[in-house]
Amino acid sequence: MIGTEIGAYRILEQIGQGGMGVVYRGIDTGLDRPVAIKVLAPELAVNAELVERFRQEARVQARLIHTNIATLFAFLQSAGQCVIVMEFLEGQTLEQLLESRGKIPWRGAVTLARQALLGLGFAHAQGIVHRDIKPSNLALTNSGILKILDFGLAKALGGQKITTTGQRMGTVRYMSPEQIRGETVDRATDIYSLGITLYELLTGQAPFVADSEFDVMSAHVHTPAPGFLDREPDIPAGIEECVLKALAKKRADRFQSAEDFSEALEAASRPDAPPDVPLVKKAGKKRIVEPATTAPPSIREPAPEDASESPLTEPQPQAPAASDAATRATLAKRKQQLLDEQHILTREILARWLNSRGRGGEEWEELQLRSEEVREELAEIAKQEKAHGER
Ligand SMILES: Nc1ncnc2c1ncn2[C@@H]1O[C@H](COP(=O)(O)OP(=O)(O)OP(=O)(O)O)[C@@H](O)[C@H]1O
Ligand SMILES: [Mg+2]
Repeated sequence: MIGTEIGAYRILEQIGQGGMGVVYRGIDTGLDRPVAIKVLAPELAVNAELVERFRQEARVQARLIHTNIATLFAFLQSAGQCVIVMEFLEGQTLEQLLESRGKIPWRGAVTLARQALLGLGFAHAQGIVHRDIKPSNLALTNSGILKILDFGLAKALGGQKITTTGQRMGTVRYMSPEQIRGETVDRATDIYSLGITLYELLTGQAPFVADSEFDVMSAHVHTPAPGFLDREPDIPAGIEECVLKALAKKRADRFQSAEDFSEALEAASRPDAPPDVPLVKKAGKKRIVEPATTAPPSIREPAPEDASESPLTEPQPQAPAASDAATRATLAKRKQQLLDEQHILTREILARWLNSRGRGGEEWEELQLRSEEVREELAEIAKQEKAHGER
C-alpha cells in the first residue's frame, strides 16, 4: 500500500490497525498537508451494503466540525478499495497514553473527559451518537487538545468487525448495558462509555475486567461499578460520584446530557477539592517576576476593569446586606475567570507533562505556580462567598 495514490492522497506509512482496517499516515498531494487514511479491510470493502452504510455515515460525520472532533476530509472508493481520509492527529490516543503512563492525575483526566464531552455535546445536539467511545477513539494532540475519532463508523459497521489476531479484548470493555442487550442507543450510551473511559483514566483500570468477554458484558448489565476512593484517596469524592452516575445501569439515572456531566465534573473539581498532588510539583524557588508577566500569553488574564474593587483586596465583612448581591456577583465573575484559567492551565500542564515525560522545565514550573495561585484565590473566593451568602 505504501506509495499508493488514491485520488489526491498518497499513502506514506502505516500508523495503526483496528477492527475495520489499517490506518496510514498520508499526504494530501494537492494541499501538501498530512492526513490520516483509513483503508477498509478488503473483506469488508467487498460488502456493497456495508460500503454504502459507510458512505452515509461519512456524510453525517462530515457535518461535525468541532475542535474536539477529528475532521473528516473525504470518503473515496477506487479499485475495490474504500478509504476514509481525515485530519492527521499528531499526538497519542488515550489508549496509548494509558499503556505508556498508566493512570492520569485526576485534574488532567477530568480535563480530558470534559473536552470529550464538549465534542459529544456538539454531536448530540445534531442527533448524532458516537456508539464506540473508548480510549483508542480519543486522541490527545501534542498541543493538549482532545479529539474524538471515528464518529459514526460503529453505526455503519453494525458489529461487523474483523478480528485480527492478537486484538485485545477492548470491544466490550466500554460497551453500555443497552448495547449489550441489543437495544437502541442514544446520547446516554456515549455518556456511559465515556464514564468507563474516565474511570480507567483516573484509576488505571476499567471497572469491569474479567477473563471472558461474557463476564465483562454480564458485569456491565448486572454489577454496580465499584467505587475507587479507597484506592485513590486524592480524588475528590464528587468526582467518583460523577463517574458512578455516568455508569448507572438505567439510562434515566445517568446524566441526561454531555453538558450536565461536564458541569458536574467542574463543580466536583472546585477549589475546595484537595490539590492535585501528582501534577503540582511544589516549586522550591521563589518567584522573581510578577505573575501577570510570567504567565504565557495564552493564559494571561486581562486586568479586570474593576481590579480596585476586587473582593480579594478589599473584603467587606461589615458590608450592609444590600451590597451582598453586588459582592456575590463580583465574586462569581472573578470565580468564573479563574475557573476558565484553571481549565486552560490544567490542559497546558498536562500537555507539557506528557511531552516531557514529567521533567517539566521553567515554563512548566511557572504554570504550576500560577495554577497554585489560582487555586488559592479560588479557595479564598469560596470562603468569601460563604461569608456573604450566609447573612
Ligand atoms: N486521525 C488519526 N490521526 C492519527 N492517528 C490515527 C488517526 N486515526 C487513527 N489513528 C491511529 O490508528 C490506530 C487504529 O485506529 P482504528 O480506529 O483503526 O482502531 P481502534 O480505534 O484501535 O479500534 P476500532 O477499530 O475498534 O475503532 C489508532 O489507535 C491510532 O493510533
Ligand atoms: Mg478507532
